[in-house]
This record gives sequence, C-alpha cells and structure tokens, in this order.
Amino acid sequence: NKIWVVIPAAGVGVRMQADRPKQYLPLVEKTVIEHTLECFVGHPAVAGIVVAVSDGDPFWAELMATTLATQRNLYTAPGGRERADSVLNALTYLTDTLHIPPETGVLVHDAARPCLSRQDLNKLLAAGYMEAAGAILAVPVRDTMKRAQADGAHISHTEERNGLWHALTPQMATLGVLQAALADAWQKGLAVTDEASALEYAGLHPILVEGDARNIKITRPADLALATFFLRDVAG
Ligand code: C5P
Repeated sequence: NKIWVVIPAAGVGVRMQADRPKQYLPLVEKTVIEHTLECFVGHPAVAGIVVAVSDGDPFWAELMATTLATQRNLYTAPGGRERADSVLNALTYLTDTLHIPPETGVLVHDAARPCLSRQDLNKLLAAGYMEAAGAILAVPVRDTMKRAQADGAHISHTEERNGLWHALTPQMATLGVLQAALADAWQKGLAVTDEASALEYAGLHPILVEGDARNIKITRPADLALATFFLRDVAG
C-alpha cells in the first residue's frame, strides 16, 4: 500500500517580486521545485507524483522536457484558482484518469517547500498510515501571539500560545476522504488554506506530527537565502 504525492505548483508568488513563479527560481544548482520533488523520488513508499501547474506553464514544460524527462510515475494536472482548487484537480486526476482507489493514502506537499527532510517525511508516514483522520507536519508556535483590533494597528489581546501550532506540509489523508472533504468545503464556500482545514470542517481531527522548523515555505526573497543554508546544511 504505497501512497501518492500531490504537489500544488500553480501559484504565481507575487510576494517574491521575481520574473517567474517562486517554484522555478534557482536554488542550490537546480530549481526550487526540483528540490521539492527530490524529497519523494525514489522513496520506497511513494507510488507516484501528480503536480498541479497553471495552464501552459512554460517553466514546467521546460523541466518536463529536460531534467524531469526520464522521471517515471510523474504526472501533470491542471492548476486551479486557489491552492485548494489545484489540490482538488490533482486528486480528480488520481481518481478519474489514473483510477487510483479511494482508500489509497495521499500526501499533499507545497512545491514551495524544498527543505523537507527524509526523516520528517518518514515520521509523518509512520504516524499517518493507520490514521483515518489524517496527519500533518507542524511546529509549535514559539513567539507570543497578538490578536489585532479591528483597525489592524493596535493590540486587542494576547492569544494563549500554549497548544498553538504552525501547520506545515506534507499533509496526509486518504484519497477518497480528502477529495470529499475538499469538494464539500468548496461547495459551501468555506476558507480552505490547507488540507487539514477541509478535514476539520468534515468533523475530523488529524494528528499533529512535530516536524523540523527548517521545512519553510519560500514566500519572500530572504527565504531563498535561508533555504540555501538549510539545504547545504542538510547535505553536509
Ligand atoms: O502562495 P502560497 O505560498 O500559499 O502557495 C502554496 C503552494 O500552493 C505553492 O506551492 C503554490 O504553487 C501552490 N498554489 C497552487 N495553486 C494556486 C495557488 C497556489 O497550486 N492557485
């Protein structure tokens, strides 16, 4: 019972102020997304990978024609308007095009998180395998958390930090359960910023698996310098 990996990679990344989406920016000898894919390629528990990309994305086409050309079990699905739409499209590709059974495990991981370690991936897989409610990598909040007043400029109060976590990816669930949860949340117009939020709306309580804080999401230019440091650190 191998799992399938879904990589939403259809974002434009306006906060990076670059000439291309952040997943295609150069990072330690390749592109961000190539590092992300490397976390999963060749892993014994992975059956295959579906990447959701924007329609006519020239950067993805170029990679698929060159460095990724010989990669087996790597598929492309159409991206969507929001991240959740891209994930849902990739899940639909798994069920409708590849005919993957709904009880199969799926793992969703942001294209923009190239520093996932094998150790964290294995930790999540071990925790998530038997878990019907799903499982996610997360790190406990360390800073003091302030809730702003309606003006967005003044502090209303301090949130209780104990028990607060940053949600990372990968996030793991069963294909059929996740697909139904995302479709339902979409239909109801609920805000879905990660897979777990859709599962929560469905009344499920995924497991929090403590991961490494170095599994950052490339969002702003300084994150590339951090990722470079982390990747070199992990390699050395
Ligand atoms: O923009 P943000 O950092 O939240 O994006 C997280 C991940 O979701 C990125 O890998 C991005 O490419 C992906 N995404 C997507 N489809 C969208 C928006 C974002 O696949 N419509």
